[in-house]
Amino acid sequence: MTASYDITHHTYDVVVIGAGGSGLRATLGMAEQGLKTACISKVFPTRSHTVAAQGGIAASLSNMGPDHWQWHMYDTVKGSDWLGDTDAMEYLAREAPKAVYELEHYGVPFSRTEDGTIYQRPFGGHTTEFGEGPPVQRTCAAADRTGHAILHTLYGQSLKHNAEFYIEYFATDLIMSEDGQCQGVVAWKLDDGTMHVFSAKMVVLATGGYGRAYFSATSAHTCTGDGGGMVARAGLPLQDMEFVQFHPTGIYGSGCLITEGARGEGGYLTNSEGERFMERYAPTYKDLASRDVVSRCITIEIREGRGVGPNKDHMHLHLNHLPPEALAERLPGISESARIFAGVDVTKEPIPILPTVHYNMGGIPTNYWGEVLNPSADEPDAVVPGLMAVGEAGCASVHGANRLGSNSLIDLVVFGRAAAIRAGKVVDPEAANPTLNQASIDKALGRFDGIRYANGSTPTAELRLEMQKTMQADAAVFRTDKTLAEGVEKMTAVAGKLNDIKVTDRSLVWNSDLMETLELTNLMPNALATITGAEARKESRGAHAHEDYPDRDDKAWRVHTISRVDGNRVDLSYRPVHLDPLSTAEEGGIDLKKIAPKARVY
Ligand code: FUM
Repeated sequence: MTASYDITHHTYDVVVIGAGGSGLRATLGMAEQGLKTACISKVFPTRSHTVAAQGGIAASLSNMGPDHWQWHMYDTVKGSDWLGDTDAMEYLAREAPKAVYELEHYGVPFSRTEDGTIYQRPFGGHTTEFGEGPPVQRTCAAADRTGHAILHTLYGQSLKHNAEFYIEYFATDLIMSEDGQCQGVVAWKLDDGTMHVFSAKMVVLATGGYGRAYFSATSAHTCTGDGGGMVARAGLPLQDMEFVQFHPTGIYGSGCLITEGARGEGGYLTNSEGERFMERYAPTYKDLASRDVVSRCITIEIREGRGVGPNKDHMHLHLNHLPPEALAERLPGISESARIFAGVDVTKEPIPILPTVHYNMGGIPTNYWGEVLNPSADEPDAVVPGLMAVGEAGCASVHGANRLGSNSLIDLVVFGRAAAIRAGKVVDPEAANPTLNQASIDKALGRFDGIRYANGSTPTAELRLEMQKTMQADAAVFRTDKTLAEGVEKMTAVAGKLNDIKVTDRSLVWNSDLMETLELTNLMPNALATITGAEARKESRGAHAHEDYPDRDDKAWRVHTISRVDGNRVDLSYRPVHLDPLSTAEEGGIDLKKIAPKARVY
């Protein structure tokens, strides 16, 4: 029997789900072109997780010394450990300066140089001369509150262009036609309990990552992989989910982010012997090596007994040698976080830090226009009509196996903008919206109702904790055949327990029990795809450090993992990495010899 709810209907050209950096940039771009655009967000837009992005946004502006988009592209290719798609990485690096200047003109209050240009700081893995020169200052910053500045500006601009916001609405499921076209979305309005159907010619998933599948993450509690969950339930795949980034410097205990900009401004790490150990592991770029490398080095130091503190289980990040006025000007936010969450005065003492889950390189597969892909062996780049994914929810793939710091904010705006450019070409504002597939709506409402009245014996919080502890232990910085096999077995059992979930509150208004359970049903397929993909990948690449296969194996494994999740089963297949750039060297593009795979050392 179909669940019975009164439905409010809405009709738009474009519906964007999520109001972080990519969602707002897409919303603004759509609305600027005159497309009737709605943005649905489960939190107030300026509370989206982008607000927590600290250090900055990468673009080769050359404000602080020589830089070139090709050097940025090279660093991104190397950072990705040769798993990123070459066309998408070229698009990112080439479009980045344009996208940042647009932000400046929209009103983002960037920090400034003496000359009044945008201030840029060094970040890990960003170099000059195709990795042969010194570190580059490429990361454009608004002190250490860059995401905050961008989010507020994009929200204001979106309102100015008459985008309509549905705030504190939770999108539960996609509406799909029988022949696989996305037609809209079903949503629950959290403050009055009403149900809504949004019809759209284009749906854009900008729902962020799924950091909360882990026990300790820099991500907000709202980062529950909602887009990935919706896509998996629609029978569509996820890509490269095994690549999970640990940020080297989460505050020990709370997991709060201490920006890489801290090391960019001259901070450094020490072990219990007071040694600047990064000099041993990465003699050239030291503390500014790529994130996966620094996280592994910290983990090795701790394992070998050189951790600090009574339990020798973390490291120290020093800023106390830097001038207090520089800290106040460039790093005020993390100075405050260190005081509140670690009880540390950064001008006097080191900050206790530990690698903490920070970012998902994998996500919903897309091309560099943000169009969602449903690959098959014959058509590895087949597009799903009516559906896009951008930002951390998507996988274009520019970050491959490891993302460089400050390449996330630029990914958000470059690909949010690209999605709008593409939608301007494929969405006809004069055309009628497709007739909605009622069976798909009924299925979504039935699932919602089934969860609302779920009467098993496993409370949501208990199952979520079991998932988080399993992921933290078995899909960690270092992985082995044994931990991964155990992890797959445990996660399959954990995901199976969703059938035994217990929701206690049956109401519809501000029901956080129901909301968290729906979020858990989204986290679960993301987590399951992560550990299953990791168990299958018999090599080490980027953030996937497999101790039984310590080397990268380009012959067998330079491929994207495609996971289709159905309940607690995951079906894996693989699709080729795009090796061709957008432009040849003759056309002004990069010389392919420069980005040929080689050993990744810093
Ligand atoms: O360290 C940071 O400020 C984080 C930046 C990023 O993840 O790109």
